[in-house]
Amino acid sequence: MSTGISWFVIIGTLGSILGFFLLLFMNRKISRPGQTTGHSYDGIEEYDNPLPAWWYWAFILSMVFGLGYLAYYPGLGNFAGLSGWTQVKDLEEDRAAAAEKYGPIFAQYREVPIDELAKNPDVVKIGRRLFTTNCSVCHGATGQGSFGFPNLTDSEWMWGGSNEAIEETITNGRNGVMTPFGSILGEKGVSEAASYVMSLSGREVDPEEAAKGKVHFQTYCFVCHGMDAKGQAMFGAPNLTNEIWLYGNSRLRIEYTIKNGRNNQMPSFKDKLSADKIHILAAYVKSLGANK
Ligand code: HEC
Ligand code: HEC
Repeated sequence: MSTGISWFVIIGTLGSILGFFLLLFMNRKISRPGQTTGHSYDGIEEYDNPLPAWWYWAFILSMVFGLGYLAYYPGLGNFAGLSGWTQVKDLEEDRAAAAEKYGPIFAQYREVPIDELAKNPDVVKIGRRLFTTNCSVCHGATGQGSFGFPNLTDSEWMWGGSNEAIEETITNGRNGVMTPFGSILGEKGVSEAASYVMSLSGREVDPEEAAKGKVHFQTYCFVCHGMDAKGQAMFGAPNLTNEIWLYGNSRLRIEYTIKNGRNNQMPSFKDKLSADKIHILAAYVKSLGANK
């Protein structure tokens, strides 16, 4: 908050409390017991009595409470309050308490190999909860993925499906980068490369186009996708020879990828989740594939 706004808040808040107090005090002076205010509403008149004492004192007490509260907790502009309380500190304390309480539940599985955990129904249950909270926004409730978000229940892994690779993916995140080829290949070249890619998964395409596309592939694409086009986990480049697609199998999408490239980010979870939780999540991801 800028200093100006801070003073605006401080003066506004203290000023209105003072205002209420003066109003209350001045009204207390009025005391004309037994007389009416002079207003008459359909013959109903109102006595001009002072506030009842308990009401008056309740007002005073709430003002004292308000002033005390504003002194102790943050509330007056940039003044931090005497207690030093902050939302962040409060959250951190809650987190530490939760880690102390629930940490051991996760820690007991720390030394157990992922393959074993993936078969343990209790662990899968914990993993499912962690997945729902942290992963399902992108990968879907059941891990089936969607456009641009990989399916975690199939047998294809862009970054490798070993226990270590999955744990590494969750811990440090991944950035899948495919460079654009629109300006290198031109419209025709892009279309030829797409034909070749489509032929790899057994689709009907113009064989002449595909043959030209193959040359492009062996010039530019094999570096990442591999000579056999089966992908390379080192670059996160997917297998192009099966019916599993991150961006759909239509010619339009395939050409779009080749022309414009792709830049896709799996976030890192090492600052958000403990290593023990990531271990359990890796086991849960493993269990998803095992169901197929
Ligand atoms: C903000 C969206 C987002 C969230 C949240 C997210 N992911 Fe991902 N994840 C992605 C994207 C995008 C990719 C693909 C990266 C790429 O294209 O290289 C990916 C890739 C992966 C992969 C690698 C897939 C492969 O084929 O190699 C795994 C495993 C994975 N995520 C697991 C998880 C788990 C477990 C969580 C929860 C802790 C999670 N993800 C949370 C977006 C997300
Ligand atoms: C720098 C490495 C690199 C090069 C070179 C490269 N690709 Fe890719 N390609 C990738 C990566 C990584 C992805 C996955 C992008 C993502 O995770 O979003 C990808 C994705 C694709 C896809 C989408 C696959 C799907 O499942 O939807 C197609 C199609 C594709 N590449 C074709 C090609 C063709 C054709 C060439 C050559 C003209 C090529 N790539 C060159 C790295 C590369």
